[in-house]
Amino acid sequence: MFADRVLSGMRPTGNLHLGHYHGVLKNWVTLQQEHECLFFVADWHALTTHYDTPEIIEQNVWDMVVDWLAAGVDPSQATLFIQSKVPAHAELYLLLSMITPLGWLERVPTYKDQQEKLTEKDLSTYGFLGYPLLQSADILIYRANRVPVGEDQAPHLEFTREISRRFNHIYGKEQGFKEKAELAIKKLGSKKSKLYCKLRNSFQEQGDENALAEAKSLLEGQQNLSMGDRERLFGYLEGGGKMILSEPETMLTQASRMPGLDGQKMSKSYNNTISLREDKDSVVKKIRTMPTDPARVRRSDTGDPAKCPVWQFHAVYSDNKTRDWVQQGCKSAGIGCVECKQPVIDAVLAEQEPMHARAKMYEEDPTLVRNIIADGCEKANQLAEETMRDVREVMGLSYP
Ligand code: TRP
Ligand code: SF4
Repeated sequence: MFADRVLSGMRPTGNLHLGHYHGVLKNWVTLQQEHECLFFVADWHALTTHYDTPEIIEQNVWDMVVDWLAAGVDPSQATLFIQSKVPAHAELYLLLSMITPLGWLERVPTYKDQQEKLTEKDLSTYGFLGYPLLQSADILIYRANRVPVGEDQAPHLEFTREISRRFNHIYGKEQGFKEKAELAIKKLGSKKSKLYCKLRNSFQEQGDENALAEAKSLLEGQQNLSMGDRERLFGYLEGGGKMILSEPETMLTQASRMPGLDGQKMSKSYNNTISLREDKDSVVKKIRTMPTDPARVRRSDTGDPAKCPVWQFHAVYSDNKTRDWVQQGCKSAGIGCVECKQPVIDAVLAEQEPMHARAKMYEEDPTLVRNIIADGCEKANQLAEETMRDVREVMGLSYP
C-alpha cells in the first residue's frame, strides 16, 4: 500500500519556458525512470487565482501537456492526467475540510503572501483559502509518499502531513485495535513477526527512526496481508490506530539556475523568457538582442562577464573551455558580443531540437495527446478510488 510513489502537479497558467525545463521538467524525466510517477495538470488550482480568466486555463492545459511530452516526460513510464477529470480529488477535499481547523489554513504563509502580492485580484475567497487543502487531497488520495516541489511549496507539504496525521488520529481508532493488530502480527509468520516486534520496540522505546523505516519496508514487502491488517500494522508501529492516509515526504527541487534574457530569474511576469518550443528564428533573435555589459558600448571597449546576462547563459550551457574564452575575450575586448553569443545560441537550439522533434507528432495529431490523458485519467481514477473506499468507510459513508 505504501510503495514508493511520486506525485507532482503544475498549474496551467502560462506557456512553459526554459526555466520550467531546467527547474522542474528535467527532474520529472529523471524521476520517471526510477519511481512510479503521477504528474497532473492542476486546473482547479489554477482557478483559485485565475477564476476570472477561464479561457487561459482551457488553452494552457493542452499546450502544457505537449510541453511535458516535448521535454521527455514519457507516458509509457509516468501517468499523466488532469485534476478535474478525477473528481474524487474534490470529494476528498470536501471530506478533509470537515476536520481542517480554519486557523491552520490561515497560518499557511503563501495565503497572506500571495494576497499581498497579487493586489490586482481579490483573493479573499473560500477557494483560495482552501488551496493548500486541495493540494493535500491531490497528494493523499494517491498515498503518494514523495512529492517533488519548489521551496515555496514546502509549507503546503507540512500542512498535508498535519492533515494526514489528524485524519488518522480521528478515524484510525477502532474497537479492539490492539488485539486486531496483535493478530495481524501473527499472520506475518514467526520470523517476520519477531522482527516486526523488535523493530517496533526499538522505535517506541528509543525513537530509533532506522528501525521504523526498516519495519515499514518489511511491511511493504508483504503481499498477502489484507488491506485492513496492513493499515493496522503500519498504524501500530507508530502508536494508536490504523494509518489510512500516509504522510508524504518533500523532495525539494533545486531552484533552476536558468536566468532570463535580462539576467533576472526567467519568468513570464518579467517578459524575459524563451519558451520551451519557441521557434528557431525567434530564439536567435532574442539572444542576439540580449543586453550585455553596459560598459561595452563599442567593440573596442573591454567588459566584465560578471555584469552581463549572457555570461549567466554560458554558466548554464558552456564547457570550461568556452567559458575561459568568454572571460578572456570579454575582459581584453578580444571578442565581440555577437561572437560571444553564438555558442549560447547553438546550445539553446541544440537543447530544443529533440523537444521540437518529440512535439511534432503531437502538434500534428492532438488526438494522441487526448488519448494519453484519457489513459492517465482512467488509471488515476482507479488509484484514487482505492483510497476513497477506505476514507468513506471510516467516515461512515460506505452504505450501499
Ligand atoms: N501548488 C503547486 C504549485 O503551485 C501545484 C500543485 C497542486 C501540486 N497540487 C499539487 C504540486 C500536488 C505537488 C503536489 O506549484
Ligand atoms: Fe557579455 Fe560576452 Fe559581451 Fe562580455 S563579450 S559583455 S560576456 S556578451
